[in-house]
Amino acid sequence: MARCLLLSRTSLPDEVVTVLGEQYPKDAKTNITSSILSKVSRKLHLQPSHPIGILRSLIEAHYPSFTALSNFSPVVTPAMNFDDLSFPLDHPGRSLTDSYYINAHRMLRTHTSAHEVETFAKGIRQWLLTADVYRRDEIDGSHYPVFHQMEGARIFSHDPSGIRELEEDNARLAARLAKANIVIEDIPHVTATNPAQPSHDPRHAELVALNLKLSLNSLILDIFGGRANAGEGEPLRVRWIEAYFPFTSPSFEVEVMFGGKWLEILGCGVVLQSTLDKAKVPNSIGWAFGLGLERIAMILYSIPDIRLFWSEDPRFLSQFTPGQIKTFKPFSKYPACYKDVSFWLPDQAMHENDFCDLVRDAAGDFVEDVKLVDAFTHPKTKRNSQCFRINYRSMDRSLSNDEANALHAQVVSRLKNVCVYLLVRVDHVRTTSNTIIKPRLLHLAVSPVTLAHGRAALEE
Ligand code: DAH
Repeated sequence: MARCLLLSRTSLPDEVVTVLGEQYPKDAKTNITSSILSKVSRKLHLQPSHPIGILRSLIEAHYPSFTALSNFSPVVTPAMNFDDLSFPLDHPGRSLTDSYYINAHRMLRTHTSAHEVETFAKGIRQWLLTADVYRRDEIDGSHYPVFHQMEGARIFSHDPSGIRELEEDNARLAARLAKANIVIEDIPHVTATNPAQPSHDPRHAELVALNLKLSLNSLILDIFGGRANAGEGEPLRVRWIEAYFPFTSPSFEVEVMFGGKWLEILGCGVVLQSTLDKAKVPNSIGWAFGLGLERIAMILYSIPDIRLFWSEDPRFLSQFTPGQIKTFKPFSKYPACYKDVSFWLPDQAMHENDFCDLVRDAAGDFVEDVKLVDAFTHPKTKRNSQCFRINYRSMDRSLSNDEANALHAQVVSRLKNVCVYLLVRVDHVRTTSNTIIKPRLLHLAVSPVTLAHGRAALEE
Protein backbone atom coordinates (compact mmCIF):
# COMPACT_ATOMS: atom_id res chain seq x y z
CA MET A 1 0.00 0.00 0.00
CA ALA A 2 2.84 2.37 0.89
CA ARG A 3 4.36 1.62 -2.47
CA CYS A 4 1.24 2.71 -4.34
CA LEU A 5 1.00 5.83 -2.24
CA LEU A 6 4.52 6.61 -3.28
CA LEU A 7 3.68 6.05 -6.93
CA SER A 8 0.71 8.36 -6.83
CA ARG A 9 2.57 10.96 -4.83
CA THR A 10 5.22 11.19 -7.50
CA SER A 11 2.70 11.85 -10.25
CA LEU A 12 0.06 13.88 -8.42
CA PRO A 13 1.58 16.09 -5.78
CA ASP A 14 -1.68 17.66 -4.56
CA GLU A 15 -3.86 16.30 -1.81
CA VAL A 16 -6.87 15.90 -4.06
CA VAL A 17 -7.51 14.09 -7.32
CA THR A 18 -9.67 15.90 -9.87
CA VAL A 19 -11.64 13.61 -12.17
CA LEU A 20 -14.01 15.15 -14.73
CA GLY A 21 -14.16 18.39 -12.73
CA GLU A 22 -14.92 16.69 -9.37
CA GLN A 23 -12.36 16.79 -6.56
CA TYR A 24 -11.74 13.73 -4.41
CA PRO A 25 -9.46 13.64 -1.34
CA LYS A 26 -6.52 11.27 -1.65
CA ASP A 27 -5.91 8.57 0.90
CA ALA A 28 -3.76 5.50 1.37
CA LYS A 29 -5.60 3.68 -1.42
CA THR A 30 -5.03 6.34 -4.09
CA ASN A 31 -3.13 4.75 -6.97
CA ILE A 32 -4.53 6.52 -10.04
CA THR A 33 -1.83 8.12 -12.21
CA SER A 34 -1.94 11.31 -14.24
CA SER A 35 -1.50 9.34 -17.46
CA ILE A 36 -4.74 7.45 -16.66
CA LEU A 37 -6.51 10.65 -15.65
CA SER A 38 -5.67 12.19 -19.01
CA LYS A 39 -7.70 9.45 -20.74
CA VAL A 40 -10.92 9.90 -18.78
CA SER A 41 -12.20 12.76 -20.92
CA ARG A 42 -11.39 11.21 -24.31
CA LYS A 43 -14.62 9.15 -24.66
CA LEU A 44 -13.61 7.34 -27.84
CA HIS A 45 -16.93 5.48 -27.87
CA LEU A 46 -18.78 8.74 -28.45
CA GLN A 47 -16.77 9.72 -31.53
CA PRO A 48 -18.89 8.76 -34.56
CA SER A 49 -15.90 8.22 -36.91
CA HIS A 50 -13.65 6.42 -34.45
CA PRO A 51 -13.52 2.60 -34.81
CA ILE A 52 -14.79 2.20 -31.23
CA GLY A 53 -17.67 4.64 -31.88
CA ILE A 54 -18.49 2.96 -35.21
CA LEU A 55 -18.59 -0.48 -33.61
CA ARG A 56 -20.84 0.85 -30.83
CA SER A 57 -23.29 2.20 -33.42
CA LEU A 58 -23.24 -1.06 -35.39
CA ILE A 59 -24.10 -3.11 -32.31
CA GLU A 60 -26.74 -0.60 -31.22
CA ALA A 61 -28.30 -0.86 -34.70
CA HIS A 62 -28.50 -4.64 -34.24
CA TYR A 63 -30.63 -4.15 -31.10
CA PRO A 64 -33.05 -1.40 -32.19
CA SER A 65 -35.50 -2.02 -29.36
CA PHE A 66 -32.83 -1.74 -26.64
CA THR A 67 -32.19 1.55 -24.79
CA ALA A 68 -28.67 2.71 -25.69
CA LEU A 69 -26.76 4.36 -22.84
CA SER A 70 -23.25 5.75 -23.16
CA ASN A 71 -22.76 8.68 -20.80
CA PHE A 72 -22.09 7.12 -17.42
CA SER A 73 -19.19 8.55 -15.38
CA PRO A 74 -16.28 6.13 -14.95
CA VAL A 75 -16.10 7.05 -11.25
CA VAL A 76 -17.97 4.42 -9.25
CA THR A 77 -17.97 3.07 -5.72
CA PRO A 78 -16.31 -0.28 -4.96
CA ALA A 79 -19.82 -1.36 -3.93
CA MET A 80 -21.13 -0.75 -7.46
CA ASN A 81 -18.15 -2.38 -9.13
CA PHE A 82 -17.91 -5.41 -6.82
CA ASP A 83 -20.30 -5.83 -3.86
CA ASP A 84 -23.58 -5.29 -5.75
CA LEU A 85 -22.39 -8.00 -8.15
CA SER A 86 -21.55 -10.46 -5.35
CA PHE A 87 -17.77 -10.39 -5.83
CA PRO A 88 -16.20 -12.15 -2.85
CA LEU A 89 -14.18 -9.95 -0.50
CA ASP A 90 -10.93 -11.67 -1.48
CA HIS A 91 -11.49 -11.41 -5.26
CA PRO A 92 -8.17 -10.34 -6.89
CA GLY A 93 -9.96 -7.69 -8.98
CA ARG A 94 -10.42 -5.63 -5.81
CA SER A 95 -6.69 -5.31 -5.18
CA LEU A 96 -4.62 -2.18 -5.66
CA THR A 97 -2.44 -4.02 -8.13
CA ASP A 98 -5.40 -4.72 -10.43
CA SER A 99 -7.68 -1.67 -10.17
CA TYR A 100 -7.36 2.11 -10.09
CA TYR A 101 -8.59 3.65 -6.86
CA ILE A 102 -9.23 7.39 -6.49
CA ASN A 103 -9.50 6.77 -2.76
CA ALA A 104 -11.01 4.13 -0.49
CA HIS A 105 -14.54 5.14 -1.51
CA ARG A 106 -14.23 5.78 -5.24
CA MET A 107 -12.55 3.93 -8.10
CA LEU A 108 -12.55 3.83 -11.89
CA ARG A 109 -14.95 1.09 -13.03
CA THR A 110 -13.17 -2.05 -14.15
CA HIS A 111 -16.16 -3.25 -16.19
CA THR A 112 -19.49 -1.98 -17.47
CA SER A 113 -21.27 -4.50 -15.23
CA ALA A 114 -20.71 -1.88 -12.49
CA HIS A 115 -23.83 -0.12 -13.82
CA GLU A 116 -26.15 -3.13 -13.92
CA VAL A 117 -27.99 -2.42 -10.67
CA GLU A 118 -28.56 1.28 -11.31
CA THR A 119 -29.71 0.64 -14.89
CA PHE A 120 -32.16 -2.10 -13.94
CA ALA A 121 -33.29 0.12 -11.04
CA LYS A 122 -34.33 2.79 -13.56
CA GLY A 123 -36.92 0.34 -14.83
CA ILE A 124 -35.15 -0.22 -18.18
CA ARG A 125 -35.71 -3.85 -19.14
CA GLN A 126 -33.50 -4.17 -22.24
CA TRP A 127 -30.47 -1.98 -22.64
CA LEU A 128 -26.95 -1.56 -24.01
CA LEU A 129 -24.38 0.44 -22.08
CA THR A 130 -21.04 1.45 -23.60
CA ALA A 131 -18.22 2.91 -21.57
CA ASP A 132 -14.51 3.24 -20.97
CA VAL A 133 -13.20 0.81 -18.33
CA TYR A 134 -9.89 0.81 -16.45
CA ARG A 135 -7.63 -2.02 -15.35
CA ARG A 136 -4.02 -2.09 -14.22
CA ASP A 137 -2.24 -4.40 -16.60
CA GLU A 138 0.95 -5.35 -18.35
CA ILE A 139 2.05 -3.35 -21.41
CA ASP A 140 1.98 -4.91 -24.85
CA GLY A 141 0.29 -4.64 -28.25
CA SER A 142 -3.07 -5.93 -27.02
CA HIS A 143 -3.23 -4.64 -23.43
CA TYR A 144 -3.95 -1.06 -22.50
CA PRO A 145 -5.07 0.13 -19.05
CA VAL A 146 -8.12 1.84 -20.57
CA PHE A 147 -10.43 0.05 -22.96
CA HIS A 148 -14.10 -0.03 -23.86
CA GLN A 149 -16.83 -2.48 -23.08
CA MET A 150 -20.44 -2.79 -24.05
CA GLU A 151 -22.83 -4.32 -21.57
CA GLY A 152 -26.12 -5.65 -22.85
CA ALA A 153 -28.98 -6.97 -20.78
CA ARG A 154 -32.56 -8.08 -21.09
CA ILE A 155 -35.04 -9.16 -18.47
CA PHE A 156 -38.36 -10.92 -18.89
CA SER A 157 -41.31 -11.11 -16.61
CA HIS A 158 -41.41 -14.38 -14.66
CA ASP A 159 -45.14 -14.83 -15.33
CA PRO A 160 -46.66 -16.82 -18.23
CA SER A 161 -46.67 -13.77 -20.55
CA GLY A 162 -42.92 -13.27 -20.04
CA ILE A 163 -42.21 -16.94 -20.66
CA ARG A 164 -44.32 -16.81 -23.84
CA GLU A 165 -42.36 -13.76 -25.00
CA LEU A 166 -39.15 -15.72 -24.43
CA GLU A 167 -40.36 -18.74 -26.37
CA GLU A 168 -41.53 -16.64 -29.30
CA ASP A 169 -38.27 -14.70 -29.43
CA ASN A 170 -36.28 -17.94 -29.31
CA ALA A 171 -38.26 -19.38 -32.23
CA ARG A 172 -37.75 -16.19 -34.30
CA LEU A 173 -33.98 -16.05 -33.66
CA ALA A 174 -33.48 -19.79 -34.23
CA ALA A 175 -35.23 -19.55 -37.61
CA ARG A 176 -32.95 -16.74 -38.71
CA LEU A 177 -29.78 -18.56 -37.61
CA ALA A 178 -30.85 -21.81 -39.26
CA LYS A 179 -30.55 -20.11 -42.66
CA ALA A 180 -27.15 -18.54 -42.02
CA ASN A 181 -23.69 -19.78 -42.93
CA ILE A 182 -22.58 -20.22 -39.32
CA VAL A 183 -21.28 -23.21 -37.36
CA ILE A 184 -21.93 -22.98 -33.64
CA GLU A 185 -20.19 -25.32 -31.17
CA ASP A 186 -22.66 -25.26 -28.33
CA ILE A 187 -22.65 -26.67 -24.80
CA PRO A 188 -25.64 -27.50 -22.57
CA HIS A 189 -27.38 -24.38 -21.23
CA VAL A 190 -27.46 -25.65 -17.65
CA THR A 191 -25.30 -28.35 -16.04
CA ALA A 192 -24.24 -29.43 -12.55
CA THR A 193 -21.06 -27.35 -12.88
CA ASN A 194 -22.86 -24.40 -14.50
CA PRO A 195 -26.13 -24.55 -12.61
CA ALA A 196 -29.43 -22.74 -12.69
CA GLN A 197 -29.96 -20.55 -9.61
CA PRO A 198 -31.89 -22.09 -6.70
CA SER A 199 -34.67 -19.50 -6.99
CA HIS A 200 -35.18 -20.22 -10.71
CA ASP A 201 -37.40 -22.82 -12.29
CA PRO A 202 -34.70 -24.76 -14.26
CA ARG A 203 -36.98 -24.74 -17.32
CA HIS A 204 -37.08 -20.92 -17.25
CA ALA A 205 -33.31 -20.71 -16.72
CA GLU A 206 -32.87 -22.90 -19.82
CA LEU A 207 -35.12 -20.64 -21.88
CA VAL A 208 -33.26 -17.52 -20.76
CA ALA A 209 -29.84 -19.06 -21.44
CA LEU A 210 -31.06 -20.15 -24.87
CA ASN A 211 -32.34 -16.64 -25.59
CA LEU A 212 -28.98 -15.21 -24.56
CA LYS A 213 -27.14 -17.61 -26.87
CA LEU A 214 -29.45 -17.05 -29.83
CA SER A 215 -29.33 -13.31 -29.36
CA LEU A 216 -25.52 -13.23 -29.23
CA ASN A 217 -25.07 -15.71 -32.07
CA SER A 218 -27.15 -13.49 -34.30
CA LEU A 219 -25.22 -10.36 -33.21
CA ILE A 220 -21.93 -12.15 -33.98
CA LEU A 221 -23.29 -13.23 -37.35
CA ASP A 222 -24.19 -9.63 -38.11
CA ILE A 223 -20.80 -8.23 -37.14
CA PHE A 224 -18.42 -10.97 -38.24
CA GLY A 225 -20.39 -12.71 -40.99
CA GLY A 226 -18.38 -12.67 -44.21
CA ARG A 227 -15.46 -10.91 -42.50
CA ALA A 228 -13.77 -13.59 -40.45
CA ASN A 229 -11.06 -14.38 -43.05
CA ALA A 230 -12.42 -17.88 -43.16
CA GLY A 231 -12.17 -18.02 -46.94
CA GLU A 232 -14.79 -17.80 -49.67
CA GLY A 233 -18.00 -19.57 -48.69
CA GLU A 234 -16.50 -20.86 -45.42
CA PRO A 235 -18.89 -20.65 -42.48
CA LEU A 236 -18.38 -18.35 -39.51
CA ARG A 237 -17.36 -20.50 -36.52
CA VAL A 238 -18.44 -19.64 -33.00
CA ARG A 239 -17.95 -21.65 -29.82
CA TRP A 240 -19.53 -21.46 -26.39
CA ILE A 241 -17.51 -22.25 -23.29
CA GLU A 242 -18.59 -22.77 -19.71
CA ALA A 243 -17.34 -19.90 -17.53
CA TYR A 244 -17.60 -18.45 -14.05
CA PHE A 245 -18.52 -14.89 -13.09
CA PRO A 246 -19.54 -13.90 -9.56
CA PHE A 247 -22.74 -12.26 -10.85
CA THR A 248 -24.22 -14.84 -13.23
CA SER A 249 -25.24 -18.49 -13.20
CA PRO A 250 -25.07 -20.25 -15.57
CA SER A 251 -22.14 -18.30 -17.13
CA PHE A 252 -20.47 -18.53 -20.54
CA GLU A 253 -17.70 -17.15 -22.69
CA VAL A 254 -17.85 -16.92 -26.45
CA GLU A 255 -15.00 -17.37 -28.90
CA VAL A 256 -14.99 -16.61 -32.61
CA MET A 257 -12.65 -18.22 -35.14
CA PHE A 258 -10.81 -15.40 -36.82
CA GLY A 259 -7.83 -15.76 -39.13
CA GLY A 260 -7.51 -19.41 -38.05
CA LYS A 261 -7.45 -18.69 -34.28
CA TRP A 262 -10.11 -18.84 -31.55
CA LEU A 263 -10.54 -15.40 -29.99
CA GLU A 264 -12.52 -14.75 -26.86
CA ILE A 265 -14.80 -11.77 -27.32
CA LEU A 266 -17.30 -11.71 -24.48
CA GLY A 267 -18.56 -13.00 -21.15
CA CYS A 268 -22.23 -13.47 -20.30
CA GLY A 269 -24.78 -15.36 -18.26
CA VAL A 270 -28.10 -15.46 -16.49
CA VAL A 271 -28.15 -12.50 -14.08
CA LEU A 272 -27.92 -13.43 -10.42
CA GLN A 273 -31.26 -12.94 -8.75
CA SER A 274 -29.60 -10.97 -5.93
CA THR A 275 -28.52 -8.34 -8.49
CA LEU A 276 -32.10 -7.92 -9.67
CA ASP A 277 -33.30 -7.85 -6.05
CA LYS A 278 -30.86 -5.01 -5.32
CA ALA A 279 -32.26 -3.16 -8.32
CA LYS A 280 -35.76 -3.78 -6.94
CA VAL A 281 -37.09 -5.45 -10.07
CA PRO A 282 -39.41 -8.13 -8.77
CA ASN A 283 -40.73 -11.13 -10.65
CA SER A 284 -38.11 -10.98 -13.42
CA ILE A 285 -35.46 -13.22 -14.90
CA GLY A 286 -32.87 -12.25 -17.50
CA TRP A 287 -29.45 -12.30 -19.05
CA ALA A 288 -26.49 -9.95 -19.46
CA PHE A 289 -23.31 -9.87 -21.51
CA GLY A 290 -20.16 -7.75 -21.58
CA LEU A 291 -18.06 -7.51 -24.71
CA GLY A 292 -14.67 -5.94 -25.29
CA LEU A 293 -14.86 -3.41 -28.11
CA GLU A 294 -11.11 -3.01 -28.74
CA ARG A 295 -10.72 -6.77 -29.07
CA ILE A 296 -13.47 -6.94 -31.69
CA ALA A 297 -12.33 -3.77 -33.48
CA MET A 298 -8.72 -5.01 -33.70
CA ILE A 299 -10.01 -8.17 -35.37
CA LEU A 300 -12.49 -6.51 -37.71
CA TYR A 301 -10.34 -3.60 -38.86
CA SER A 302 -6.98 -5.46 -38.62
CA ILE A 303 -5.64 -2.84 -36.19
CA PRO A 304 -2.28 -4.24 -35.08
CA ASP A 305 -1.61 -2.26 -31.88
CA ILE A 306 -4.11 -1.24 -29.20
CA ARG A 307 -2.34 2.13 -28.70
CA LEU A 308 -3.55 3.18 -32.13
CA PHE A 309 -7.08 3.67 -30.78
CA TRP A 310 -5.71 6.61 -28.78
CA SER A 311 -3.86 8.15 -31.72
CA GLU A 312 -4.92 11.60 -32.87
CA ASP A 313 -2.95 11.22 -36.08
CA PRO A 314 -5.16 12.03 -39.10
CA ARG A 315 -3.49 9.12 -40.94
CA PHE A 316 -5.25 6.86 -38.44
CA LEU A 317 -8.51 8.72 -37.83
CA SER A 318 -9.22 9.59 -41.47
CA GLN A 319 -9.41 5.90 -42.43
CA PHE A 320 -12.74 5.25 -40.72
CA THR A 321 -16.28 6.02 -41.83
CA PRO A 322 -19.45 5.68 -39.74
CA GLY A 323 -21.40 2.53 -40.57
CA GLN A 324 -18.49 0.83 -42.35
CA ILE A 325 -15.85 -1.72 -41.46
CA LYS A 326 -12.80 -1.40 -43.69
CA THR A 327 -9.38 -2.95 -43.25
CA PHE A 328 -6.94 -0.51 -41.67
CA LYS A 329 -3.87 0.32 -43.77
CA PRO A 330 -0.85 0.73 -41.47
CA PHE A 331 0.91 3.96 -42.36
CA SER A 332 4.32 2.77 -41.29
CA LYS A 333 6.08 0.82 -38.61
CA TYR A 334 8.73 3.06 -37.11
CA PRO A 335 11.89 1.58 -35.60
CA ALA A 336 11.86 0.07 -32.14
CA CYS A 337 14.31 1.29 -29.52
CA TYR A 338 15.03 -1.12 -26.65
CA LYS A 339 16.31 0.07 -23.30
CA ASP A 340 16.93 -2.10 -20.27
CA VAL A 341 16.64 -1.13 -16.67
CA SER A 342 17.51 -3.30 -13.73
CA PHE A 343 17.05 -2.56 -10.06
CA TRP A 344 16.88 -4.10 -6.65
CA LEU A 345 13.25 -4.45 -5.68
CA PRO A 346 12.04 -2.40 -2.74
CA ASP A 347 11.72 -4.44 0.47
CA GLN A 348 7.95 -4.56 0.17
CA ALA A 349 8.39 -5.89 -3.41
CA MET A 350 6.96 -4.30 -6.51
CA HIS A 351 4.18 -5.79 -8.60
CA GLU A 352 4.82 -5.88 -12.34
CA ASN A 353 1.68 -3.74 -12.83
CA ASP A 354 3.20 -1.08 -10.54
CA PHE A 355 6.27 -0.99 -12.75
CA CYS A 356 4.16 -0.83 -15.92
CA ASP A 357 2.10 2.06 -14.56
CA LEU A 358 5.26 3.89 -13.60
CA VAL A 359 6.61 3.44 -17.12
CA ARG A 360 3.31 4.43 -18.73
CA ASP A 361 3.07 7.52 -16.55
CA ALA A 362 6.62 8.59 -17.40
CA ALA A 363 6.72 7.77 -21.12
CA GLY A 364 3.07 7.48 -22.20
CA ASP A 365 2.18 5.87 -25.50
CA PHE A 366 5.81 5.84 -26.66
CA VAL A 367 6.05 2.55 -24.79
CA GLU A 368 5.11 -0.36 -27.00
CA ASP A 369 5.83 -3.11 -24.54
CA VAL A 370 7.60 -3.93 -21.31
CA LYS A 371 9.08 -7.36 -20.68
CA LEU A 372 10.67 -8.86 -17.62
CA VAL A 373 13.87 -10.30 -19.11
CA ASP A 374 15.71 -11.36 -16.00
CA ALA A 375 15.19 -11.87 -12.30
CA PHE A 376 17.90 -12.59 -9.78
CA THR A 377 17.93 -13.37 -6.07
CA HIS A 378 21.19 -12.67 -4.33
CA PRO A 379 22.28 -15.95 -2.76
CA LYS A 380 23.40 -14.40 0.53
CA THR A 381 21.26 -11.32 1.11
CA LYS A 382 18.20 -12.86 -0.61
CA ARG A 383 17.48 -9.50 -2.15
CA ASN A 384 15.71 -9.59 -5.48
CA SER A 385 16.70 -7.76 -8.58
CA GLN A 386 14.76 -7.58 -11.84
CA CYS A 387 15.68 -6.46 -15.31
CA PHE A 388 12.97 -5.08 -17.61
CA ARG A 389 13.34 -4.40 -21.31
CA ILE A 390 11.27 -1.45 -22.50
CA ASN A 391 10.53 -1.08 -26.17
CA TYR A 392 10.10 2.60 -27.07
CA ARG A 393 8.44 3.11 -30.41
CA SER A 394 6.31 5.95 -31.67
CA MET A 395 3.26 5.09 -33.76
CA ASP A 396 3.56 8.18 -35.93
CA ARG A 397 7.23 9.05 -36.35
CA SER A 398 10.80 7.83 -35.83
CA LEU A 399 12.06 8.34 -32.28
CA SER A 400 15.70 9.40 -32.09
CA ASN A 401 17.95 7.57 -29.67
CA ASP A 402 18.29 10.83 -27.71
CA GLU A 403 14.53 11.05 -27.34
CA ALA A 404 14.32 7.43 -26.23
CA ASN A 405 17.13 8.10 -23.76
CA ALA A 406 15.24 11.10 -22.39
CA LEU A 407 12.09 8.98 -21.95
CA HIS A 408 14.13 6.25 -20.29
CA ALA A 409 15.72 8.81 -17.97
CA GLN A 410 12.19 9.81 -16.90
CA VAL A 411 11.41 6.19 -16.10
CA VAL A 412 14.62 5.86 -14.10
CA SER A 413 13.96 9.02 -12.18
CA ARG A 414 10.44 7.80 -11.21
CA LEU A 415 11.97 4.48 -10.27
CA LYS A 416 14.45 6.16 -7.98
CA ASN A 417 11.54 7.74 -6.11
CA VAL A 418 10.14 4.30 -5.43
CA CYS A 419 13.39 2.51 -4.82
CA VAL A 420 14.83 5.34 -2.73
CA TYR A 421 17.80 3.51 -1.32
CA LEU A 422 18.33 1.09 -4.11
CA LEU A 423 20.68 0.84 -6.96
CA VAL A 424 19.04 1.38 -10.31
CA ARG A 425 20.95 0.47 -13.44
CA VAL A 426 20.11 1.22 -17.04
CA ASP A 427 21.91 0.31 -20.21
CA HIS A 428 23.09 3.79 -21.05
CA VAL A 429 23.00 5.87 -17.86
CA ARG A 430 24.27 4.51 -14.63
CA THR A 431 22.45 5.95 -11.68
CA THR A 432 23.26 5.14 -8.10
CA SER A 433 21.61 6.46 -5.02
CA ASN A 434 22.83 6.60 -1.45
CA THR A 435 23.84 2.99 -1.09
CA ILE A 436 26.68 1.65 -3.15
CA ILE A 437 26.25 -1.98 -4.06
CA LYS A 438 28.99 -3.87 -5.85
CA PRO A 439 27.95 -4.01 -9.51
CA ARG A 440 28.78 -7.70 -9.82
CA LEU A 441 25.97 -8.46 -7.39
CA LEU A 442 23.47 -7.24 -9.89
CA HIS A 443 22.77 -9.78 -12.61
CA LEU A 444 24.54 -13.02 -13.15
CA ALA A 445 22.67 -14.38 -16.13
CA VAL A 446 21.15 -11.63 -18.14
CA SER A 447 20.29 -10.32 -21.56
CA PRO A 448 23.12 -9.26 -23.91
CA VAL A 449 22.60 -5.55 -23.28
CA THR A 450 22.52 -5.89 -19.53
CA LEU A 451 25.34 -8.39 -19.57
CA ALA A 452 27.48 -6.02 -21.57
CA HIS A 453 26.73 -3.45 -18.94
CA GLY A 454 27.44 -5.76 -16.11
CA ARG A 455 30.84 -6.40 -17.70
CA ALA A 456 31.45 -2.71 -18.26
CA ALA A 457 30.60 -2.04 -14.65
CA LEU A 458 32.98 -4.76 -13.47
CA GLU A 459 35.77 -3.25 -15.47
CA GLU A 460 35.23 0.21 -13.98
N1 DAH B 1 -17.93 -7.91 -16.68
C1 DAH B 1 -17.28 -9.09 -17.19
C2 DAH B 1 -15.82 -8.77 -17.50
O1 DAH B 1 -15.46 -7.64 -17.63
C3 DAH B 1 -17.95 -9.56 -18.46
C4 DAH B 1 -19.34 -10.05 -18.20
C5 DAH B 1 -19.57 -11.37 -17.85
C6 DAH B 1 -20.42 -9.18 -18.31
C7 DAH B 1 -20.83 -11.83 -17.61
C8 DAH B 1 -21.72 -9.64 -18.07
C9 DAH B 1 -21.90 -10.97 -17.71
O2 DAH B 1 -22.81 -8.87 -18.15
O3 DAH B 1 -23.18 -11.39 -17.52
O4 DAH B 1 -15.03 -9.67 -17.61
